[in-house]
Amino acid sequence: MKVLVVGSGGREHAIIRKLKESAQKPKIICAPGNGGISADADCVSIGATDIPSMVSYALEEKIDYVVVTPDDPLALGMVDALAKRGIPAFGPTKAAARIEASKVFSKNLMEKYGIPTASYEVFESPREAAAYVRKAGTYPTVIKADGLALGKGVLIAQNEEEATDAIKHLMVDKAFGESGSRVVIEEFLTGIEVSVLAFADGETIVPMVSSMDHKRANDNDEGLNTGGMGTIAPSPFYTEETAERCMKEIFLPTMEAMKKEGCPFSGCLYFGLILTADGPKVIEYNSRFGDPETQSVIPLLDGDLLEIMMACTKGELKESMVKWKDGAAACVIEASGGYPGSYEKGKEIFGLNRMGQLDEQTVYHAGTKYEAGKYYTNGGRVLGITGVAPTLKEALAKAYEGVDQVTFENMHVRRDIGAKALKGCEE
Ligand code: AMP
Ligand code: GLY
Repeated sequence: MKVLVVGSGGREHAIIRKLKESAQKPKIICAPGNGGISADADCVSIGATDIPSMVSYALEEKIDYVVVTPDDPLALGMVDALAKRGIPAFGPTKAAARIEASKVFSKNLMEKYGIPTASYEVFESPREAAAYVRKAGTYPTVIKADGLALGKGVLIAQNEEEATDAIKHLMVDKAFGESGSRVVIEEFLTGIEVSVLAFADGETIVPMVSSMDHKRANDNDEGLNTGGMGTIAPSPFYTEETAERCMKEIFLPTMEAMKKEGCPFSGCLYFGLILTADGPKVIEYNSRFGDPETQSVIPLLDGDLLEIMMACTKGELKESMVKWKDGAAACVIEASGGYPGSYEKGKEIFGLNRMGQLDEQTVYHAGTKYEAGKYYTNGGRVLGITGVAPTLKEALAKAYEGVDQVTFENMHVRRDIGAKALKGCEE
């Protein structure tokens, strides 16, 4: 069986390493992949959003199954294009991917079907948006670009000046192009954030273990927003009671809503939740696996990922397929100094073995290049080092032991991944 994984990050590396454990013993190809992924799969240099080339390649190489991982090819309809040529793929259709690709779509969906989220207004004119924040006068306020924006389309304004700047940045300067032609302005929510990824087959939804991301660049949640600097799983704040409530008030209603809208969701549905005093609410949906949530969630999966994914595609997902190991996982990101701003590439990475790994931890490669037996940095987030252990405390210690063995010039690491969660465990 030949499986093609589309994407090039640490998330894709984690998925590939788990797919390799499948009883079907698949041959795995990754497009475009990266230096570290090339130790686990054949990499072909087709851009993740190049739908025509991806479809031609899959046809020529007689690929049996495709896993479309990143948001942009999903939003562009890669799954639909593959299906048209008879190639089954994991991931939502273009219509279902709107749950992430359009904040206006997702907010309207939640409002229509009574799914708890922050109250909001939609604006197409910067003047009206600015007049609204001025009149509302409540801060902080949250301003979001409607479309995809590389994870940078959410701006939190502390005062009128910041709000006006944010509106200008998105709608007038068009920092993210057409993604900013509409904005959502919403209520600022407070509480602990939890990520829940779930397998979905259009009808049935099976949540994975919960996780917690650390989005800011620096310790104590300071600095700029990044794609994520580290994760832990499961989140000790996500109790069984909260999980039950989320299933009833959020997960099942979302599946039902998507069906009613004529775009049932199949693939990985990611719920970005905030546990407020009024109960869990949705901050955002993603139509895909999270990065770096996947690097701490998938190592805990005690099931056949390929079988589960194919069941999602066929509409045959069963809860019994998805089991979890006891214990905890922690993933710490090693980033290039300067990220998420500008940074240098091409620094030699020291401490990895020839396969780009360590003995006790798993190293998920994000921005790396492999040349003549050496690994080099090739992106903002370079590596994710994951430790798995019986407790969160041990998993974190193990991940950081790994971090201390792998270095490159000007490396940036957060030293407090999981600290809040550990404190939560003790309280
Ligand atoms: P997103 O890109 O949608 O994941 O949003 C980035 C981050 O902005 C989230 O992880 C939250 O920390 C924050 N955020 C988004 N929406 C809200 C909100 N309504 N209230 C408070 N924080 C928010
Ligand atoms: N880690 C957040 C995301 O994947 O969107």
